[in-house]
Order: sequence, then C-alpha cells, then structure tokens
Amino acid sequence: MRLLVTGGAGFIGSHFVRWMLAHEPETRVVVLDKLTYAGNPANLADVARDPRYRFVLGDICDAAAVDAVVAGCDAIVNFAAETHVDRSILDPEAFIRTDVVGIHVLLEAARRQGVRRFLQVSTDEVYGDVAVGSSQEEAPLRPRSPYAASKASAELFLQAYHVTYGLATLATRGSNTLGPNQYPEKAVPLFITNAIDDQPLPIYGDGRQVRDWLYVEDHCEAIRLVLERGTPGEAYNVGAGNERENLAVARDILRLLGKPESLIQHVPDRPGHDRRYSLDTSKIRALGWRPRYDFETALARTVEWYVANEHWWRPIKSGEYRAYYLRNYQDRERLLAPQPRRA
Ligand code: NAD
Ligand code: DAU
Repeated sequence: MRLLVTGGAGFIGSHFVRWMLAHEPETRVVVLDKLTYAGNPANLADVARDPRYRFVLGDICDAAAVDAVVAGCDAIVNFAAETHVDRSILDPEAFIRTDVVGIHVLLEAARRQGVRRFLQVSTDEVYGDVAVGSSQEEAPLRPRSPYAASKASAELFLQAYHVTYGLATLATRGSNTLGPNQYPEKAVPLFITNAIDDQPLPIYGDGRQVRDWLYVEDHCEAIRLVLERGTPGEAYNVGAGNERENLAVARDILRLLGKPESLIQHVPDRPGHDRRYSLDTSKIRALGWRPRYDFETALARTVEWYVANEHWWRPIKSGEYRAYYLRNYQDRERLLAPQPRRA
C-alpha cells in the first residue's frame, strides 16, 4: 500500500508513521507537512533514512502540492490540523483554513484521483460538553470551541463526499492523547515540563473538568485498524475509558516527579470550557481494538520521556512558544474581564 500521511511531523502523526513502517513491511509512507510551529522533523528523525519513507514540505490548502503527492496513493490519513483549543480562541481563522478548507482540498484530490480510503483523524470534542453518560457515534455534533467547530465541519464534508461521490471516507474521534513528542502547550506536557523546572502548573478554573486519556500508541493502533477494517462512511470513537479530572492529572504528575502540590496554581478559566467528554467505544471494540496502556503506565512513560528528552522541549519553551504562552494568558485575562456597560 502507498499511504499519504498529512500532518505526519506532529505529535500523533509521527507516532503513526513510525508504527506503520514498523508493522506493515509492504507499506510505503509519504508525509506531507507544512511544519507549522507544531510540526517538528526531529519527531521523524529515526525513520528519515527508511527507503519506504518520504517527506514532502507542503500545505494541505495548496491544491497543486496536494495533487502531486496524492498521485499514486492508495489511501490518505489526515492528521494535519491546527489542534490547540486555546489558540483557536485567539485566532479562529487559522483553524478554518487548515481544518476545514484544507480537508476540502484533500477530499477533492482523493475523489479525482480515485484514492481507495480516506481517514480523517477527528476528535471527541465534536460532541461538545457531555454532562452525563457517554457519546455514541450517532449523537448529534455540538461543537463549542472554534477548534471543535472546525473539526466537526470537516466531518460534515467527509460525509458529503461519501454520500455524493462515493468516496470511502472514515473518521476516528479520538480522546485526549498523551505520550512522547507532544508540543508543551497541551496540558500534560505543559504540566510535566513546568514541574521539572519548579514552575507553577496553571489549572483553568476549578480544575474539575474531565478528560478521557488515551496513550498515543493505542490511538495509532486504533487509526490503523479503522483504516484497514472500518466501514466506509462511518465514524469510530477512540477512547481508553481513563476519565480523570485535570486536578488529579496535575497531582499525579507532581507525585511522579517528586514535586510539591503547592506548584498547582488556579488561573482564569478557558472561555466556553467543556466540562466533560466521555466516549462509548463499543463500536471500535467490536472491530477488535483494545487499549494496551492503563492511565498510570501511560502517564509514567510520558513523564519519563520528558525527563530524558530535555533537548527536545527546552528549545521550544525558550523561543517563539514562550511569546505565545505569555500572550495567551494576557488575552485570557482580557477576554474574561468584565465588559463596561453601555450607556
Ligand atoms: P499537532 O499539533 O502535534 O500536529 C499537527 C501537524 O499538522 C503538525 O506537524 C503541523 O505542522 C501539521 N500541519 C498543520 N497545518 C498544516 C497544513 N495546513 N498543511 C500541512 N500540515 C499542517 O497535532 P496532534 O495533537 O498530533 O493531532 C493530530 C490530529 O489528531 C489532529 O487532526 C487533531 O485534531 C487530532 N486529535 C488530536 C488529539 C490530541 O489529544 N492531541 C486527540 C484527538 C484528535
Ligand atoms: O479531546 C481531544 C482533544 O484533546 C484534541 O482534539 C485536541 O487537539 C487536544 O488539544 C486536546 O484538547 P484539550 O483542550 O482537551 O487539551 P488541553 O491539553 O489543551 O487541555 C486539557 C484540559 O486541561 C482541558 O480541560 C483544559 C485544561 N488545561 C489546559 C491547559 C493548556 C488547564 O487546566 N491548564 C492549561 O494550561
């Protein structure tokens, strides 16, 4: 199989590329990635010399670049996206461009060139806040952040291309993923790297929000299974059932690193912050998928990786990212400040 992996230089995409090359000897992988702030060639350094792997620098919104790499591909797995909810609150337009327009460009190329399977890596955030129970795939999409809205829009285009043009589309709706190589703006790597440096762990609001944590290798295995065995036109929830409050996750990280809980610092909440996500995963389990990592093992492996790989994250935290991080907090203060009443 010749596989195009878009966004393969990011966190989950790079693990997926490594996973496919290791487990599928007949597969050749082409990565198309724009190398935004979140893309990092170092994530793929260990496969760079593999003759079955090729990297192409390019934007999924660029139809000519996409056409060129789609030529001859049997399947596409799309990881390329703007992925951080906080950034989507500061700059929604970037999310519409990549996460909606970019997907349309990919779908068009796939349709015209007869690609056999197109898998969109989507998210549990498309369901919106889940106060009680767990979301099944048939549940309505009720996205509440610009990020979630852009991912839900992409899924609607996927469905339209399946119904209208017969394209064999698939979507996976994954939950919060943790593991090595995750950009340290996301809660887990941010908390770990801050704790290593005895810096505060910023907890949004009361910290009682619930996320379902999934180890990156389990997420990749689920994507591979759906790509190979999923029913075209369908979406599959991917979650490990590790529902934890953010405060509990922060405390576990501090315990693993031998740091005091006094590093936890409550800061103003994320606007529109979803309180809880929860997935019913019977559908993907019926395909044969099971998570291999419990939460404790997944978190311990992740913490160990950041402790051992300071050369990977220190340059990120000292440069451009630092400017974003400071701006994020200034802008949150401004967004949440009481508005003056109009006369
Ligand atoms: P990431 O932010 O680490 O990486 C995104 C990658 O996409 C980067 O390599 C970046 O350079 C590339 N990219 C961005 N815009 C591009 C463009 N216009 N053209 C080409 N490449 C572009 O992302 P991640 O956390 O690995 O997430 C990957 C996918 O999985 C995303 O679609 C995300 O919505 C989804 N997802 C993530 C999680 C999670 O917890 N991280 C959970 C569920 C679903
Ligand atoms: O649920 C899947 C989604 O998980 C993916 O689709 C997204 O791409 C990914 O970024 C992630 O979204 P979240 O918003 O849940 O992840 P984040 O790591 O930003 O936040 C996790 C929780 O921690 C969330 O409730 C917000 C909170 N948080 C986050 C940060 C960055 C804090 O309390 N403090 C922080 O500094």
